[in-house]
Amino acid sequence: MNWNDKRVVVVGGTSGIGLACTRLAAEAGAMVWSAGRNAERRESAAVTLADHAGRITWAEADVQDRDSLSRLFAAAAPIDVLVLAATGTERAMGPFLKMEMEGFRRSFGKLWGYANGIQTGVPHLADDAAVVMVGGAIARKCPPGMIAVSSTGNAIEGFCRALAPEIAPRRVNVVAPGLIDTGMFEALSEEQRQGMFEQARGNIPLGRVGQPEEVAAMILAVADNRYMTGTTVDVEGGSLLP
Ligand SMILES: NC(=O)c1ccc[n+]([C@@H]2O[C@H](COP(=O)([O-])OP(=O)(O)OC[C@H]3O[C@@H](n4cnc5c(N)ncnc54)[C@H](OP(=O)(O)O)[C@@H]3O)[C@@H](O)[C@H]2O)c1
Repeated sequence: MNWNDKRVVVVGGTSGIGLACTRLAAEAGAMVWSAGRNAERRESAAVTLADHAGRITWAEADVQDRDSLSRLFAAAAPIDVLVLAATGTERAMGPFLKMEMEGFRRSFGKLWGYANGIQTGVPHLADDAAVVMVGGAIARKCPPGMIAVSSTGNAIEGFCRALAPEIAPRRVNVVAPGLIDTGMFEALSEEQRQGMFEQARGNIPLGRVGQPEEVAAMILAVADNRYMTGTTVDVEGGSLLP
């Protein structure tokens, strides 16, 4: 794709993988609408990407608030590439048999957020647009205590496969990251974060956690490929290998 002046929307674009997408798309010449809920996070993202200020519109949107999504999409239409990267909700952790059902249900908020993004976004897509949803490789290899996150990831991959024929010739795919060093872990202390990454390294053949740009590059590549739809691409350092 020639990204010059393409219209790209990144929901969940103010941190981590979405922020890296925003940067790579703007660097490639696209006009980017990048959205999240938190004003401070948007301001900090705008400072980080100040070099691309003319190409990026920072917008307020919550994937659980369909009106905010409709406003965002209407402003950016006709959209060439829609990236859904919002975490969307808190997730329940721990063994399923001890899990509050409400917490398990709430964990699917990421799926409901993406579903909102698709229903409100598709009417604003260009005819040959591409949608990329950020899933999680954990869908297919669930560590202890992560069953709610893993189940949601599976639901998103299934949703993508089921949706692809309905929105064709527009394309929709999932990019599924492994463990990536992003703002998702900002609540941890630096020591806790490094400890968690150190422990994880043993299960990652490439021996390190991933960087947001490594996932973002694949999101743009998948959006660019005109003969892919309904599929999932993993970016996980080999962690799904047996
Ligand atoms: N990092 C990993 O190891 C990893 C692994 C597998 C999958 N993923 C997936 O990758 C995606 C991106 O995560 P990340 O690691 O880049 O996390 P991150 O750095 O925390 O970024 C999350 C982004 O989503 C936005 N967001 C969260 N809830 C939202 C909502 N309800 N409406 C709109 N925006 C919302 C956040 O901004 P606000 O909070 O201001 O709204 C932020 O811009 C997520 O779907 C996550 O599940 C991450």
